[in-house]
Amino acid sequence: MSYPPSIPRKFWGVDFNSPVMLASGTAGFGEELLDLQCLSGVGAVVSKAVTFKSREGNPPPRLLETPYGLLNSIGLANPGVHHVLEHILPVAADLPCPLLINVAGESVEEFASVVSVLEESRVHLGYEINVSCPNVADGGAAFGVDPEVVLRVAQGVSRVTSRPFSVKLTPNGGDMVQSARAAVEGGASAVTVCNTFLGMQIDWETGRSILKRKVAGYTSPALLPLVVARVWQVSNAVSVPVISSGGVSKGEDVLQLLAAGARMVQVGTRLMRRPFAAGELMAEMKKLTGE
Ligand SMILES: Cc1cc2nc3c(=O)[nH]c(=O)nc-3n(C[C@H](O)[C@H](O)[C@H](O)COP(=O)(O)O)c2cc1C
Repeated sequence: MSYPPSIPRKFWGVDFNSPVMLASGTAGFGEELLDLQCLSGVGAVVSKAVTFKSREGNPPPRLLETPYGLLNSIGLANPGVHHVLEHILPVAADLPCPLLINVAGESVEEFASVVSVLEESRVHLGYEINVSCPNVADGGAAFGVDPEVVLRVAQGVSRVTSRPFSVKLTPNGGDMVQSARAAVEGGASAVTVCNTFLGMQIDWETGRSILKRKVAGYTSPALLPLVVARVWQVSNAVSVPVISSGGVSKGEDVLQLLAAGARMVQVGTRLMRRPFAAGELMAEMKKLTGE
């Protein structure tokens, strides 16, 4: 690796045009963004999580803005894999960039079942396997905290697809480096570092959590150094590319993550204020690097 990093435009051997991916859960399947024309500068879209059956998600409120960041408690709301295959992917076929489908499940087997169904579509390039969700079938801790479970999830996915997939790791418990190694051993073509950090806001007068599910996912530009450290640790430990996720608000942040070892960089929460963030990040990076 040479410094300063150059702006990557290829990933998994495919032309991505930009290293900036829209993070799962913050851009739908990209299909609603087509009319807004805000996909310039987007290297790839990562879809909202898809599970086998449809999920209502958590009761509202699902988003809570705090003074320094955002809490989200969506609960993997999605219409289920068959609906996605039949009704959403045909529209997403018009995207001007590759699509990765984020896959979630409640058991080790569900990940492979969802991927098997999606294999019928030619629209997407690959998958992002979200092992941050709770392993309901086995006690409720996130799949990603146990490398042995991560290995089984990745092996299950590898058996049903030859498309590339990234395993999206959790920062909430376990050893991320060991989980990343397990993902690679199971056949992952990348690892995404990382999902949201657990957070909570409590009304001090009543002692109650504002969000009904109590603990939620927290995102904030202030988390950037936590993500940089994890990207650096994981990219030094595994042979596959690392996709960073978390804390990006400026072009300089993307360059820092690339310098830490990331090969692609996701942006999520920033899109809620700046739907054109990917194009803005690219423009800032080009200015900084002179490319
Ligand atoms: C509203 C919302 C929904 C999300 N939904 C998902 C999801 O379905 N699957 C997933 O793997 N990550 C999900 N995430 C996490 C993001 O993909 C991303 O990893 C995280 O927001 C960190 O990036 P950021 O700091 O740029 O927002 C969600 C985040 C937000 C804010």
